[in-house]
Amino acid sequence: MDSNEIRKRFLAFFEKRGHAIIPSASLLPENDPSVLFNTAGMQPLVPYLMGQKHPQGTRLANFQKCVRTGDIDEVGDNTHLTFFEMMGNWSLGDYFKEEAIQWSFELLTSKEEGFGLDPSRLYITCFEGDDNAPKDEESATIWTKIFEKEGLNAEERIFFLPAESNWWSPGDNGPCGPDTEMFYDLTKEGLNIKNKEDFLKADDSQEVVEIWNDVFMEYKKENGKVVGKLENKNVDTGSGFERVTTVLQGKQSIFETDLFVPILEKIKELSSDYKEKEARIIADHIRAASFMISDGALPSNTDQGYVLRRLLRRAIRFADNIGMPENALLQLMPVIIDKYGSHYTNLNIENISNIIGDEENKFRKTLKEGLKETKDYVMKAEKGDFKVIPGKVAFKLFSTFGFPLELTKEIANESGVDVDEKEFNEEFEKHQEQSRTASAGKFKGGLAGHGEMETKYHTATHLLHAALREVLGEHVFQKGSNITAERLRFDFSHPDKMTDEEKTKVEDWINEKIDMGLSVTRQEMSFDEAKGLGAMGLFEDKYGDKVSVYSIGNEPNEICSRELCGGPHVVSIKDLGKFKIKKEEATSAGVRRIKAVLEE
Ligand code: SER
Repeated sequence: MDSNEIRKRFLAFFEKRGHAIIPSASLLPENDPSVLFNTAGMQPLVPYLMGQKHPQGTRLANFQKCVRTGDIDEVGDNTHLTFFEMMGNWSLGDYFKEEAIQWSFELLTSKEEGFGLDPSRLYITCFEGDDNAPKDEESATIWTKIFEKEGLNAEERIFFLPAESNWWSPGDNGPCGPDTEMFYDLTKEGLNIKNKEDFLKADDSQEVVEIWNDVFMEYKKENGKVVGKLENKNVDTGSGFERVTTVLQGKQSIFETDLFVPILEKIKELSSDYKEKEARIIADHIRAASFMISDGALPSNTDQGYVLRRLLRRAIRFADNIGMPENALLQLMPVIIDKYGSHYTNLNIENISNIIGDEENKFRKTLKEGLKETKDYVMKAEKGDFKVIPGKVAFKLFSTFGFPLELTKEIANESGVDVDEKEFNEEFEKHQEQSRTASAGKFKGGLAGHGEMETKYHTATHLLHAALREVLGEHVFQKGSNITAERLRFDFSHPDKMTDEEKTKVEDWINEKIDMGLSVTRQEMSFDEAKGLGAMGLFEDKYGDKVSVYSIGNEPNEICSRELCGGPHVVSIKDLGKFKIKKEEATSAGVRRIKAVLEE
């Protein structure tokens, strides 16, 4: 089954069962500074799992873009990736275990509507219970009935496991709960699993692989402890698209599926000394980088930008290693867009190519010199007693030659030499502190709590968007947004550098509204109604029939901003402080970026 068909079937299956299909949220979490990238399908939906009403109802289904870099060193084997898509269906206080499990089974095994997998190769795990929650007999009973109907012995395929494997929570705070996981037997002949021991062995040797996880989120965690139940009983299911594709195409490796074969073929065509593992790493990293860039990340030395830079520079090194010419990575772009462009319409080939090309050129300027210097240090360390490159040296390689720590480590490790990471981190933090204090300028933070400050910046972002359209024209649209407790960052379409006069006009326009102390109101309405009112449809496709609209203005005739948005926002803008643009710069052709602060 071709990956496009899998995509189509998953969504059609749940749409038919009353689910609204919602597009993937951005890889860069919009108002969640606790993670750099979305790491799970549920992350953008946390507020709704916690009880907020979702504008599209109580049944949702989606493909969510995710990035996990924890296993970056494993990329190149058969199963690991940095970027992946998670398929999920969601019940927000709607259906619970019965339907969720029944539908998982139907989708996996139905030949007409689903994936047509063999039920006799399916194995299930359920939560065995602990102090937080009881044994999940309910799920096991549902599964037992399903297997019995198929004429299969349920006792030999349903196993109870502890929280380490069958309890899911995204972190120390938020929604969580027991889960039931589905595993598929990949062996040629089929295994003869009789009990839990057999199953755990097969799991260890990857003869069975997890293909789906139904989490029953009815509990709440605070500071790492389960503290009680949520308002609603929710269902969060997650199934790795690439993994399911591998299973359905009968392959041993993610890289043998139609999601990767065309990219690898192109790499082969472009390289004079092709090596499979290096090619896989390049394919993974460039695919991940393309998605990160399309969601607004730019290579830099901090946060998301650092991860992106590290992926790109690593890919460039491996490209050199297999004899790809300079800038040949850009030729992978059309292949990637061809595969994903129709599902992710913000993948803009020109924008991505510009940024990757620039980064390669920047890196090449220092690559040779940096490599030489790194190798010199490695040799010195090899000769010395310690076999460790001091963190200060690694930091210098980072700050002068743009060598991410991990790159220096990789080069050093090739000769059995280590890097003093602790010292590197100390240097790094010292440097960060310095630049933070320098850029914070006069801003006196710390008066408002973090969440509160971010909410203020979120509302200020709406004001900025409206002000830019007022001052520069109606061609201005939001291209990206990022908020921390210290500042807002806003990307928008506009061809030219802003003049000082334009910047002042924008600031004045916003500060005037703040002085008026306008209030912010939220309304739910149909998408067409919102459009009729001229609401800004940011990321239009993120919303469905029912949308939530935030307006700024006391009386209907003085509304100065109206946007489709999930919130949260301040109630009145009178306490936002003074809006000040700190920086205005280009991010790519036709896109400008503003960094702004709210001063006391
Ligand atoms: N949150 C669960 C997971 O990531 C199910 O979506 O596996």
